[in-house]
Amino acid sequence: MKKIILDCDTGLDDAVAIINAVADKEIKLMGITTVAGNVNLEYTTRNTLDILYSIGEEGIGVYKGEKKPLARELHTAEDFHGKSGIGDLVLKRSPADIKSIHAAEYMAKTISDNPGDIIIAAVGPLTNVALLLTKYPEIKKDIKEINVMGGSLCGGNATQFAEFNIYADPEAAEIVFSSEVPLTMVGLDATMKAKFQKKDLDFLREEKNSRSSMTVKIFDSMFRIRDSQGKDFVVFHDSIALIASLKNELFTFENHPIMISTDSKTRGETRVHEKGQKIKVAVGFDSEGFKNYMKDIFGNSEG
Ligand code: BDR
Ligand code: CA
Repeated sequence: MKKIILDCDTGLDDAVAIINAVADKEIKLMGITTVAGNVNLEYTTRNTLDILYSIGEEGIGVYKGEKKPLARELHTAEDFHGKSGIGDLVLKRSPADIKSIHAAEYMAKTISDNPGDIIIAAVGPLTNVALLLTKYPEIKKDIKEINVMGGSLCGGNATQFAEFNIYADPEAAEIVFSSEVPLTMVGLDATMKAKFQKKDLDFLREEKNSRSSMTVKIFDSMFRIRDSQGKDFVVFHDSIALIASLKNELFTFENHPIMISTDSKTRGETRVHEKGQKIKVAVGFDSEGFKNYMKDIFGNSEG
């Protein structure tokens, strides 16, 4: 079992990653930390609590983190995730409370209680993780690895240069990428290989459990947004980063020295540059293998 802390800005594909993390028997989801990104922190935290409640997992701790990037104004993505971050869905409100300690403090404590065992799957802007590494530098050696959904060697989605999560908080990304903690960049080079069309998730409609029915609702909501943009596919970026250390065989990795641009023109670009840190980068991904993975975890799901 891999012990994972999921740091997310829930968000439609973050919501699917949460359900994946609960449904995958190889994952022990230690807790979820929230950050501002796709929408503001109040929404990302509320969505996280409510998604967990919708699948009967309100016992998993939710820890609220940073409400804005380290050095910039908040940049959100309502165009892709809807005004509240969860498309046009209205979720039942979870009765669970947000935990009282800050996301970075929770991560530091969990890592020091489980030295060498914790994987951080960071699928939003890297603000909370940067704070963890700067405020608690002594725990760096005890982090097993950080899997970042972010970056791209093949052009961006927030701008022509930059992927959204890195664009949103490039100063935080710079801290995390140069921290020397084992890090895998799972960016658009990998995630955009797995495009799901409507028919690809028909199998989920046959499953009869809360996890599959919630995922179908999210998927349909994603599609309503994508239809309005004239696009016929959706991508589960955050689920792919979540499984980077579990399903190695689905990925092709290369090591590259990466620098993060903080310049105004190329803000958030993840650039191969001789002065950058050597980073493990996912450059390829087996899309059919991922579709089978989704079938496996939802097919075996009891929730
Ligand atoms: C990333 O940006 C967000 O909008 C998604 O949730 C994902 O983490 C993809 O670029
Ligand atoms: Ca995200």
